[in-house]
Amino acid sequence: MNNYKKSLLALSLTLGLSSSLMAETFSFDTQPIDASTLVMFQTANNAAYSLDQLPQATQVQLAKAMAAAKFNGDQGQTLELLAPVAIEADRIIVLGLGEQPLRVGEIQALGGQLASKLAPLPEHQVQVFVDPMPSEAQFAANFAHGSELASYRFERYKQFELAPKHYHFVSDDTEANVLHKQLQAVESGVFLARDMTNTTAGDLYPDSFAREAKKLSDLGVKVTVLDEKALAKLNMGAILGVGKGSDRGPRLVVAHWQGSQDAPVALVGKGITFDSGGYNIKATGTSIAHMKSDMAGAATVLATVKAMAMQQAAVNVVAIMPLAENMISGDALRPGDVLTTAAGKTVEVMNTDAEGRLILADALWYAQEKYQPRLIVDVATLTGSKVRALGREFAGIFSDSDTLVTEFTYAGQQVGERLWRLPLDKAYGEELKSPIADLKNTGTQGSAGASSAAMFLKAFINDDQPWVHLDIAGNALSAKPSAVAPAGATGYGVRLLSYWLTQQP
Ligand code: BES
Ligand code: MN
Ligand code: ZN
Repeated sequence: MNNYKKSLLALSLTLGLSSSLMAETFSFDTQPIDASTLVMFQTANNAAYSLDQLPQATQVQLAKAMAAAKFNGDQGQTLELLAPVAIEADRIIVLGLGEQPLRVGEIQALGGQLASKLAPLPEHQVQVFVDPMPSEAQFAANFAHGSELASYRFERYKQFELAPKHYHFVSDDTEANVLHKQLQAVESGVFLARDMTNTTAGDLYPDSFAREAKKLSDLGVKVTVLDEKALAKLNMGAILGVGKGSDRGPRLVVAHWQGSQDAPVALVGKGITFDSGGYNIKATGTSIAHMKSDMAGAATVLATVKAMAMQQAAVNVVAIMPLAENMISGDALRPGDVLTTAAGKTVEVMNTDAEGRLILADALWYAQEKYQPRLIVDVATLTGSKVRALGREFAGIFSDSDTLVTEFTYAGQQVGERLWRLPLDKAYGEELKSPIADLKNTGTQGSAGASSAAMFLKAFINDDQPWVHLDIAGNALSAKPSAVAPAGATGYGVRLLSYWLTQQP
C-alpha cells in the first residue's frame, strides 16, 4: 500500500467512514506488474487498443476467442479468456467501450461491471491496460471510482465475504491520483447516503440522524441541530405537526461547508425517517415496508456536503434537513387539522400521507430567511405520482429556470443519474386552494400529483428566488443491483449534485 492509500485509509478509519466494506486498493503506475487478471479494452467495431502489448501467440488466441464469441466492442460487452497461452496470467477480460468519447458515468459503469464480475473471485492483482486510451488518467480514475461504488456492501445487519482486489493502472500517476482522490470524496458521500438510507427506521430516527450529521464537524463542517424547543421558537408548526405522533421528536439539522465567500447554495432534503402515512395509513401492498427510505433526500444533501468537505471544495454549500417520523398515536396529526407554517401560511391537512411537503415548507422558509441562497435545490422522495410517471430510470426535475434545468439535466446525464423535466405550472396550484386555510396539502385525486406537490413547495419560495425541486421517489431504494450499486439504497443524487457543484465555471 502506498502512503497516499495509507493516509486515506487512516482518515476513513478516524471518521468511521461507513459500515460498508472497503475491499479494493488502487495504484496508478507507469509500469505494468505481474497480475493474474489482465483487463483490456476494445472500441466499437473492434478497433484494438491495448492488445498489441501482448505476445503474438496470446493475441492470436484472443482474436480467435473474440471471433467465436462474436465480440465486437459494444459498450458493456465482455469477453473472458481463461488460461491464455504464452503469458503468466490466469485470465484476460476484454471490455467493450462502444462509441467514443465516453461520459464519466459510462466509464464508471464499466468499472462497476468489472468489479461485479470479479466479486466471486479470491483476492488477487488486476492489471488494467488503460494505455493508450485518450485521457487515460481520467479514464483510470473514473473506472476505479465505478468499481468502488459497485463494491459497496451494507454490513450493519449481515456480513459479506468480498475478497479484496488490487487494481493497477498503467497511467499518469499524478493526474490519476488527484482525480481519484476527488472521486473518493464523492464516494464517501455516496456510501454515507446509502448507509443512512439502508439503516432501519428503528435505528435511524430524527435524533440519531442528527448525531450522524454531527460527525461531519471533524471535517470542518458547521453542524447545527434544532430540537423541538428551538423549532417551536421559530414557529415551525409544519415540522412539529408532522412529528408529533412519534415518541421520537422532530429536528431540523443544518450542515454548512463554507469553502468560498460566494452566496451559498442551499440543499434542502426531505427527512421522514419513517412514513407510515399517519392516519391516512399506507394500507396497500408492501409500500409501507420501504418507507425507512423516506429520508433519502436528507441523506443525499448531507452526503453531498460531506463530499465537498472531504475534497475541500471551493464551494459554499449548506444542507438543511427537516427530520420527523410520520406515525400514529393519541396525539398524532389528524386529517382535517390546520397547521401554521413558519412562513405564516396556514395549511389544511387533507391527507397525513402528504407529509413531505409540509416539513419542506418550514425548511424552505428557513433556507431563505437565514442564508439568502443564490440557489435552492430541494431533494425529496415526494410522490408516488412521480414513480408512476418516470419509474426508477429518471428523477423528476421541476424549475421555472430553463437554464437550471439544462445544467442539472446535463450533470445527470454525465454521471448517469438522469433527470426528466415535469411541469411546474400555476394550473396545478389551483388544486391546492382550501376554503378554510391558505392552502391544502393535496391536489385533486387522480390528477398530476408530482406537479401539484411541486406547486405546494413553490408557495413557500420567494419571488425571484432561484429554485430547483428534485423528486427522487423510486430512485433512492432499488430491489435490483445496477452497474454501480448493489440492491438497496443507491445514494441517488450525491454524484449528480457533487458534479454540478464542482464543475461550475
Ligand atoms: N413518501 C411518499 C412518496 C413515495 C412513494 C416515496 C413511493 C417513495 C416511493 C409520500 O410521502 C407520499 O406518501 N405521497 C403521497 C401523497 C398523496 C397522499 C397526495 C403519494 O404520492 O401517494
Ligand atoms: Mn407520505
Ligand atoms: Zn413521505
